[in-house]
Amino acid sequence: VITKVKARQILDSRGIPTVEVDLYTNKGMFRASAPSGATSGMYEAIELRDGDKGTYLGNGVSRAVRNINEKICEALTGMDPTLQAHVDQAMIDLDKTEKKNELGANAILAVSIAACKAGAAEKEASELSTWLFSILSVPLYKHIADLSGKTNLNLPVPAFTLISGGKHAGNNLAIQEIMILPVGAKKFEEAVQMGSETYHHLKAVITEKYGAHECNVGEDGGLAPNVARHVFREGLDLVKEAIDRTGYKERIKIALDVAATDFCIGTKYDLDSKSPNKSGQNFKSVEDMIEMYKELCKDYPIVSIEDPFDKEDWDHVKYFSGLGLCQVVGDDLLMSNPKRIERAIRETACNALLLKVNQVGTVTEAIEVVKMAKDAHWGVVVSQRSGETEDSFIADLSVGLATGQIKAGAPCRGERLAKYNQVLFLSTDLSMLSSSFPYLMKMCGGFLATNLHQEVVLQLLRIEEELGEHSIYVGDDWRQS
Ligand code: PGA
Ligand code: ZN
Repeated sequence: VITKVKARQILDSRGIPTVEVDLYTNKGMFRASAPSGATSGMYEAIELRDGDKGTYLGNGVSRAVRNINEKICEALTGMDPTLQAHVDQAMIDLDKTEKKNELGANAILAVSIAACKAGAAEKEASELSTWLFSILSVPLYKHIADLSGKTNLNLPVPAFTLISGGKHAGNNLAIQEIMILPVGAKKFEEAVQMGSETYHHLKAVITEKYGAHECNVGEDGGLAPNVARHVFREGLDLVKEAIDRTGYKERIKIALDVAATDFCIGTKYDLDSKSPNKSGQNFKSVEDMIEMYKELCKDYPIVSIEDPFDKEDWDHVKYFSGLGLCQVVGDDLLMSNPKRIERAIRETACNALLLKVNQVGTVTEAIEVVKMAKDAHWGVVVSQRSGETEDSFIADLSVGLATGQIKAGAPCRGERLAKYNQVLFLSTDLSMLSSSFPYLMKMCGGFLATNLHQEVVLQLLRIEEELGEHSIYVGDDWRQS
């Protein structure tokens, strides 16, 4: 049972305060923290900030921390952490608001994730009985799969951000992200290798073309060069050149997060919105944008476009999805909000959900919206926020819900790698759980638990090599998983 919940204020990857929680049960302490976005929308759950301009420029979260230490701790003490829906409902009841602004979505989410981790650990004793097994806990992804009723676990295709722009970088690129999807990898481990190699080739391409000073990175680790004109094409050409240099060819596909709302002015899209010398020549009508996307999908291996239009332009996103050129992801369009997802399904407005857990606010609600999307045969991308912590929960969430896609930034920067490295670890963990499990148990004398220490992970990697392949990397099935 939950014995105590204690929160503190920490800093996220942007150096801005966020909430960290230590949740205690008889099994130990379970830690989680809340991420934060740069493009927060009006339909998402609200993070509670102090607003006192004299402290952290108004961004302190001491009120959210106090809400946990005083109210949430009292409400949850004595509860069973395996009953995630009850834990989450208790906080929703305590908050009483639609957008979780009373306690703060940052407070509620961090506790919800910590409870989920505690729930996985709690399951060990009840489900596994012998003394040998008593040191084992149920892996977090497995616990999440149980909560959602899923049985087909798999490892997602990572969407690595190679070029950052929009609100995530100080360059003149209007669009937010150019990503690569190593769909042709055979294993997650190989996908990571492909991502890393392409990233470093891109760095070399940019250095040769513009100089090393254009290799600064954006908030999620993507390279952020200033591109001269026709921003989409120039950025895409750089990425294409990097992919060519790797030799992986069509095994790597391209995805865009246009985040078009951020440069939509009235009915026009200003591709020069961040350029100091605005010429006005790069103003595009929605029809121009559609033509441009059609051309780009012809000229580059683009398989996914996120937020191609303003977040309230339901008609054009529906029209564009209907063309069937690529996966059309709703992020700002949906804000992970169940009502907006329901509407998008009804109106066939897009065909994939970008899930940001802090926008919906609890693990239970995140599982529910993924179910909605899956039932509608949509793709699902579990996503980071631009302000991150080293919490790797979304890695387990993505494996446990078999979402097929994870977007956690570039293959660089610690807070981004925390997620990808966790999936790497899970790739060995999953192979362990398949047919090799009894053998591994014997070899390692029972010390194979979820949160293995690094040395054990390394040993597992060696054993994996010895045993061959058992874990399933979704690869080409990234949308159907
Ligand atoms: P955000 O961006 O976390 O800054 O909102 C992420 C995204 O748009 O995908
Ligand atoms: Zn987005």
